[in-house]
Amino acid sequence: MDELNIGVIGLGAIGQKHCSALAVLERANLCAVADVDASILATTAAQYKAAPYANAEELLKHPGLDAVVIATPDHLHREACVLAAQHGKHILVEKPLATTIDDSQAIIAAAEAGGVKLMVGFTLRFSLHYQQARKAVIDGVLGSLVSIFARRQNVISQSDRLKGRCGVLMFLGPHDFDAMRWIVGSEPVTVYSQAATSVPSVYPIENETFTTIKFANGVVGCAQIGWYLQDKHPAGKDFKLDIVGDKGSLNLDQMRQGLEIYTATGAKFPSVSAGLVDEDRAYVDCILDHKDVPVSGKDGLAAVRMVLAALRSIETGQPVHL
Ligand SMILES: NC(=O)c1ccc[n+]([C@@H]2O[C@H](COP(=O)([O-])OP(=O)(O)OC[C@H]3O[C@@H](n4cnc5c(N)ncnc54)[C@H](O)[C@@H]3O)[C@@H](O)[C@H]2O)c1
Repeated sequence: MDELNIGVIGLGAIGQKHCSALAVLERANLCAVADVDASILATTAAQYKAAPYANAEELLKHPGLDAVVIATPDHLHREACVLAAQHGKHILVEKPLATTIDDSQAIIAAAEAGGVKLMVGFTLRFSLHYQQARKAVIDGVLGSLVSIFARRQNVISQSDRLKGRCGVLMFLGPHDFDAMRWIVGSEPVTVYSQAATSVPSVYPIENETFTTIKFANGVVGCAQIGWYLQDKHPAGKDFKLDIVGDKGSLNLDQMRQGLEIYTATGAKFPSVSAGLVDEDRAYVDCILDHKDVPVSGKDGLAAVRMVLAALRSIETGQPVHL
């Protein structure tokens, strides 16, 4: 097999980006797409000349299909992943792996039983910036790690787009919780989180949070996760990572990636990294080349545990020991 036949299930915001990423990969053939929304399904199928299916179950019967990307809402990941595994199709599932430990474990078990690869879409692992940060840590450039701080801020309209179906910790938290665990190279042992309550929330969800995380190797971390940037913010995001070691420190700013555009209507800080294309390429390559997935179901489960611990901590006001 020198080309992988892939289907995308869920064609919303990130499903569209997976379609365009897969379309540029030489070793991928985007052959099928599925969505319950007939209009988005028809448009996407026409754009990519892919076979349209009204649901995952029908798409999984597409002749010659090898693998799927699952980009449905979080709480539907289990159903689509288990079905895909039962049909013997490899799985790249968007973060979070699932919204509960039980669902996460069921997905991992189904993939094992089906003998298929299971990869979780932690895009930061494919960002050159985060890869360089981790390399600096692994190469000992910073000495022994002391602390790590991550910030992820999205625009204020994001929670309205998702209509309260999840809070900011389940939406953005998995990215940084995973990146911190991946870079620190140690498991989280204690999670303590607080959410701002100073501004009324339209939905019963947390919107601005600080979470401190103590890792087993003694490193202390803090993640500021929120979605209060104004929609006119020039980058639409404020993503940062600061690492301190006993021999050096590192600062990463994904808003300023070395390309800044200034016009009469304002400034723009476009993203120049192609993290999602690299993520999808890694998925395709690991299947075709019979390699291990670069991000496992176990990694996905670890991030889910961290998010759930942070949510429990906000609820109880107490640190949660993992
Ligand atoms: N990696 C990232 O940076 C990133 C960014 C955004 C979203 N995500 C994740 O991707 C997933 C999707 O998020 P989104 O923002 O694209 O959501 P979205 O609401 O924009 O899109 C979801 C799509 O799934 C479709 N859908 C719903 N139920 C379905 C079903 N049973 N079968 C087939 N299709 C179905 C909807 O019609 C919609 O088109 C979530 O898990 C989210 O956390 C990841």
